[in-house]
Amino acid sequence: MANLLVLGTQWGDEGKGKIVDLLTPAFEVVARYQGGHNAGHTVWVRGRKIVLHLIPSGILHAGTLCVIGNGLVIAPAAFFKEIGDLEAQGVAAGPARVAVSRGAHLIMPWHPLAERFSEDRRGEKKIGTTCRGIGPAYEDKAARLGVRAGDLADLGILREKIADAVAAKEPVFRAFGLPALDAEAIYREYAGWAEKLGPYLQDVSELLDERMKRGESVLFEGAQGALLDLDHGTYPYVTSSSSTAGGAATGLGVGPRTIHGVLGITKAYTTRVGSGPFPTELDSDLGRTIATRGDEFGATTGRPRRCGWFDAVAVRYACRVNGVDRIALTKPDVLAGLGDIPVCTGYRYKGRLLKSFPPETWMLAEVVPEYRTLAGWPESLRGAADPGSLPKSFVEYVRVLEDLVEARVAIVSTGVERADTVLLEDELRGIVDLDRVRAAAGK
Ligand code: GDP
Ligand code: IMO
Ligand code: MG
Repeated sequence: MANLLVLGTQWGDEGKGKIVDLLTPAFEVVARYQGGHNAGHTVWVRGRKIVLHLIPSGILHAGTLCVIGNGLVIAPAAFFKEIGDLEAQGVAAGPARVAVSRGAHLIMPWHPLAERFSEDRRGEKKIGTTCRGIGPAYEDKAARLGVRAGDLADLGILREKIADAVAAKEPVFRAFGLPALDAEAIYREYAGWAEKLGPYLQDVSELLDERMKRGESVLFEGAQGALLDLDHGTYPYVTSSSSTAGGAATGLGVGPRTIHGVLGITKAYTTRVGSGPFPTELDSDLGRTIATRGDEFGATTGRPRRCGWFDAVAVRYACRVNGVDRIALTKPDVLAGLGDIPVCTGYRYKGRLLKSFPPETWMLAEVVPEYRTLAGWPESLRGAADPGSLPKSFVEYVRVLEDLVEARVAIVSTGVERADTVLLEDELRGIVDLDRVRAAAGK
């Protein structure tokens, strides 16, 4: 089996968790390459909802090793809370199942404090972050002040690194009236994590290399979405890591040629949490209807997600930046019965039609979307098992989307459960055994 990279092509919450979980049985390893517990990935198994934040979405399949790369930032308390919750639900998540890179950076107690302060100070211009300390942890990484998971192996080094970082932060914290930082107390807390986290720590680059040399295949899992990428997203309304495909190589220590294909997870409409421009946003009752039908509330923060029509300009851009060759289209069932469905095919800026998604976010904030209206589908898509049973107007919607974004739709997701899936390409039957999935679900 070839290795596959799976990532979101919009502003996150495209349904990556469901699709990664569905694909996992075909892979020996699922490896996340960026982000932290800002992610919220929902997987439903026979009516039971499981939300993953830091642990890769392959964890529910016992034979799979889940890897957390050097590109992530880890809050030890959040990591062990998630492990504890999983184990309480009967999902093994010990060191035999989860490997954490020694190069991953740790979220330290000053990170969420600094983030809340920074968000408040921005006022109207706040990013609307998850306030988990993610951004400030990456700031310290770039400032070369970060504490890495591997530093837990030597308590002398750990104490020194924490003391150095606190010495750098202290004057700023004091000047802005933020709580005092006690380096020794922070050291004691993290020394406590050292023993617990130790067994999980590995040289992930070497581990993946060995596994691949043995013939095992890897599913690279992106969190957030392409439009939240630090470089290629709607800066500054982005997350602080490289969520695009390029991030997988640096975030795991693998060569780019180990990525054999890129599957984009794309919602049949658009959502966004937090601030930032959103050309096709529906700030209306219809938008709220879609939010309610799609259960569009943040899996991490519970915040309502902003909803709007499908934006083909944005998704085409995401497909280009990531080399997406196939798409899994999720949540079209939410649009059933809504009448005709507009799709954004272009942007006008000051009357001029733009050739592509603009890198200037201030320009994006002012574009006027152009729409093409497509016939909707009154029929529910739930329970559709094969492509032939999909409504004609929905098949046409898929065809138009494929043309607009320049990528083929290979998978259609029609509901939250694994079995609510239609495969549009025969070759996928070697990866996803839907008959087995349906039999396990009693369908
Ligand atoms: P992720 O962050 O990309 O993993 O996505 P989230 O889990 O944050 O949000 C996606 C939401 O849509 C979750 O509540 C999923 O259970 C749900 N979902 C995924 N696929 C489908 C689908 O095809 N139809 C419907 N109705 N819900 C879906
Ligand atoms: P998944 O993996 C949707 C958004 C936040 C905010 C911006 C920066 O579930 O798709 P951060 O805390 O990361 O510094 O916040 O990014 N954001 C997400 N939006 N889904 C996510 O993850 C997100 N992770 C971060 O709302 O706008
Ligand atoms: Mg999510």
